[in-house]
Amino acid sequence: MRSISTVVFPVAGLGTRMLPATKVTPKELLPVYDTPLLQFAIEEALAAGAKRLVFVSHPAKSAIEAYLRPDPKLEGELEAKGKDELLEAVRACSVPEGVDVVFTMQEEQLGLGHAIHCAAPHVLDGPVGVILPDDLILGAPCMREMAEAFDPERMQSLIAAQRVPADRVSSYGIFDCDDADGTARTLAARGFVEKPAPADAPSNLAAVGRYVISPVVFDALTRTERGAGGEIQITDAIAATGSIHAFRFSGTRYDCGSKDGIVDATLAVQAARRQDTAPMAIAAE
Ligand code: UTP
Repeated sequence: MRSISTVVFPVAGLGTRMLPATKVTPKELLPVYDTPLLQFAIEEALAAGAKRLVFVSHPAKSAIEAYLRPDPKLEGELEAKGKDELLEAVRACSVPEGVDVVFTMQEEQLGLGHAIHCAAPHVLDGPVGVILPDDLILGAPCMREMAEAFDPERMQSLIAAQRVPADRVSSYGIFDCDDADGTARTLAARGFVEKPAPADAPSNLAAVGRYVISPVVFDALTRTERGAGGEIQITDAIAATGSIHAFRFSGTRYDCGSKDGIVDATLAVQAARRQDTAPMAIAAE
């Protein structure tokens, strides 16, 4: 299996769509049933073979660092009280030995492209995965599928893609490509249009929160200016490389940056737990 050794998690955003829930709690720590969004994202990265996890956070979101720190006092109390299942659940959240965890700060939320660029000094050579924890993908582990599909000879980037209803295109980056309705797993695109009006959308194939990017994209980010919404967009940097590839993943995506998305995801995880199956195939493998 081809793996991705470094995965970047941009987690510095304000999460305004989930206010007031995100006034104090970072969006990435909101629970889906009993598990924070961030935990699903970390497990997905580990399933893709990641050995280095780079979190781009914000000083106001220190709870994210606290979540990743082992808590011997809590573990000791659970052990003393014989709460073995809970102890096991807490321990299962630890990042395994041999996996590096790096935190860097995005002081000002200038957009996703800027957040990814903040990770540049901390990534090693080779293609890098990017996971947005608020896009939860259950089922087959998306980053692993993308690691296997990424062809460095042919691609500078690979972006997870799914078709969206015509009235939703204005919330997404939309691929300008032929055969958006087809079934090919990877698809070369001519370009992107960020959040187009439905009448201007070149297709209904939308970019969602998983990317594999080569060092060339980091280089393009150094020259990328503010775009749609006044933010530095990763899609602009990718488009500037002239190589855009969409990837149709097999799992089910939930937009957990939205209230309804997090409810839908919670019901899906609840159903999986009731059937005693892991919500992500990765947990079972
Ligand atoms: P969103 O586009 O959902 O933005 O970010 P947001 O600020 O988190 O949420 P809303 O729109 O105000 O509700 C997608 C991902 O990119 C990160 C977020 O933390 C989230 O994981 N992000 C976004 C950054 O790290 N920095 C940014 O400047 C913007």
